[in-house]
Amino acid sequence: KYDGLALTPPMGWNSWNKFACNVDEKLIRETADAMVSSGMREAGYVYINIDDCWHGDRDSLGFIHPDPKRFPSGMKALADYVHSKGLKLGIYSDAGSMTCGGRPGSRGYEFQDAQTYAKWGIDYLKYDWCNTEGLSAEGAYKTMAAALKKAGRPVVFSICEWGTYKPWGWAQNVGHLWRTTGDIYNCFDCVKDHGTWKSWGVMQILDMQEGLRKYAGPGHWNDPDMMEIGNGMTAGEDRAHFSMWSMLAAPLIAGNDLRNMSQQTRDILTNKEVIAVNQDKLGIQGFKHTSKDSVETWLKPLKNGQWAITFLNRSKSPKKVELKWKDTIITDDLSKRELNPEKQRYQVRDLWQKKNVGTTKKDFISTVPGHDVVMLLLSPSK
Ligand code: DGJ
Repeated sequence: KYDGLALTPPMGWNSWNKFACNVDEKLIRETADAMVSSGMREAGYVYINIDDCWHGDRDSLGFIHPDPKRFPSGMKALADYVHSKGLKLGIYSDAGSMTCGGRPGSRGYEFQDAQTYAKWGIDYLKYDWCNTEGLSAEGAYKTMAAALKKAGRPVVFSICEWGTYKPWGWAQNVGHLWRTTGDIYNCFDCVKDHGTWKSWGVMQILDMQEGLRKYAGPGHWNDPDMMEIGNGMTAGEDRAHFSMWSMLAAPLIAGNDLRNMSQQTRDILTNKEVIAVNQDKLGIQGFKHTSKDSVETWLKPLKNGQWAITFLNRSKSPKKVELKWKDTIITDDLSKRELNPEKQRYQVRDLWQKKNVGTTKKDFISTVPGHDVVMLLLSPSK
């Protein structure tokens, strides 16, 4: 969507992955406080997004109100509080008659709801797809996009129909991001079968991004779902998750309890050099270059002729990587950017060790622990 919003992938937090329906204003205020005190705001995280289940009822005129027990001060006061911290507030609704959590949906109330959100001071809307029998996805999301526009407040619009109707094909001017898959959960490499639907591990979600990179760019992003960092995976798995979401130019929406995170989780979520790869102004989604013996090599072109390289070890045992720079000579079809260490010498920096590790004059040899990454930044040397 070319309205000047989300020119780089949105960064923030969302309540769902950790708290599901247990949301209230205390959690939101404390999360806003933690966003500041943890250094996350400073690292670029802005949106505090309330997911499903904040709703109370509609009144006799059709206006939606928050659950008075959970949000007794009301949404306007909450938005004011979040804004006073230099952050922005996001909310959630659903294109159907009811949300997935059984709360009132926006179907038939799109313009009224958008107006209400604008009055409250809402900056981001995630719009879900439960209970939408008979609706066209494209039509329903366009209706809400039109309603948000009419309401007149700039709002990042997050399309959440789980990739069902291939939103990458129609949503570039409708929303700023679109989910490409069903729900993620806090497992690195597994699938949970619920019968009629599945939850996906981080690696399964990653594999489902294949073929989608050409649809992403400034103002319109593929959304491989919110992050599970700090929700129970190992440090290496969390690091791999964060690195790959950065390589994918994915929205970086934390899904853990920011009020009680370990130093390790905080260090991962606030690694500024990895975030810079994600937030690179070119907005080019990275791609898998090679895959060999469970180690994938991913590349992402960056501004100023820089490149990010991530070695992802999908196996549980450590793997040695030996990168001959001549094997990375490539011109990316999509961006036309060239990586040619034979022609151009690069400085090489390890973004997790946070240190320079030489230049492309010498081939790169390292060991990637199981379920972990080594992530490099290549900068042209003069
Ligand atoms: C389904 C979405 O995909 C999730 O991210 C979450 O928003 C839930 N619905 C809420 O019910």
